[in-house]
Amino acid sequence: MAAAMKAVVLGAAAGGGFPQWNSNAEACRRARAGDRGAAPRTQASLAISGDGRRWFVINASPDLRQQIEARSFLHPHQGLRSSPIEGMLLTGADVDAIAGLLHLRERQAFTIYGSARVLGVLKDNPIFGVLAADCVRRETVSLDRAFALRHVDGSDSGLEVELFDVPGKVALYLETGDAPAELAGRPGDTVGVEVRANGHRLLYIPGCARMTEPLKRRLAGASVVLFDGTLWQDDEMIRLGLGPKTGQRMGHMSVSGSDGTIAAFRDVAVGRKILVHINNSNPILLDDSPERRILKEEGWEVAYDGMEVSP
Ligand code: MLT
Ligand code: MN
Repeated sequence: MAAAMKAVVLGAAAGGGFPQWNSNAEACRRARAGDRGAAPRTQASLAISGDGRRWFVINASPDLRQQIEARSFLHPHQGLRSSPIEGMLLTGADVDAIAGLLHLRERQAFTIYGSARVLGVLKDNPIFGVLAADCVRRETVSLDRAFALRHVDGSDSGLEVELFDVPGKVALYLETGDAPAELAGRPGDTVGVEVRANGHRLLYIPGCARMTEPLKRRLAGASVVLFDGTLWQDDEMIRLGLGPKTGQRMGHMSVSGSDGTIAAFRDVAVGRKILVHINNSNPILLDDSPERRILKEEGWEVAYDGMEVSP
């Protein structure tokens, strides 16, 4: 089946969303006031489909319920109870990647795909038992091995998917110490998703602590890349008085700077480069910011909720 991949950003913000509930910073105030240059964004998630009817959602953001209601293609279309959502793919066990699973607890059949590490976190947390095992299948995905994504009825979605490890971090609430090796986590704690259909490749990487040569090789030639845009500068949360942590400490590379995302992608040829998982402190959220102009000059787009990113 020659599927035409469809992909739509459900949420473009990092954990906390934009505006964040307890932020009174100027950007969040602009977003609340309905300023057109500061569009609100829900927490990061991407919907993908091979037929435009049945969908898979990458990451279950705490805003998932709102994201479903905002997109008519995710509304039930058949019978009294149904959903076009056939599966959820998880890139990590952070709150902003898994909490939304709790919205899906109404005895609807779907499949949760994730690494052994991430599915282990769900298994160890009894609250996820609300997703009844006789309805919701959990499928452990091996890293670096492509597989055909299937609908609940077993039919092929036409999408081929591969999860791959990226430099990242164990989930904040699972930190046991501050030794760098422990914080960095183990393979499968932070993954990227590669989706292939019809000769196109889309990569979704909402968290990445640094660029590596293997990652560059994987990115090269992709049609669309959605990449970690959490912070503009590594110490931006500290400088703005918002928190004690650098981006690096949170497992995110910054967009600017010599080790940043813009610099890292200069010698990587990809079709579309789009920043996602953007923290409310990042000035790229504001259409009129100088940082936004720099991104444009560098060929980067900034994701927003509802953005169509089909290859
Ligand atoms: C992150 O992306 O660093 C996490 O979502 C942070 C968090 O869990 O709040
Ligand atoms: Mn996050």
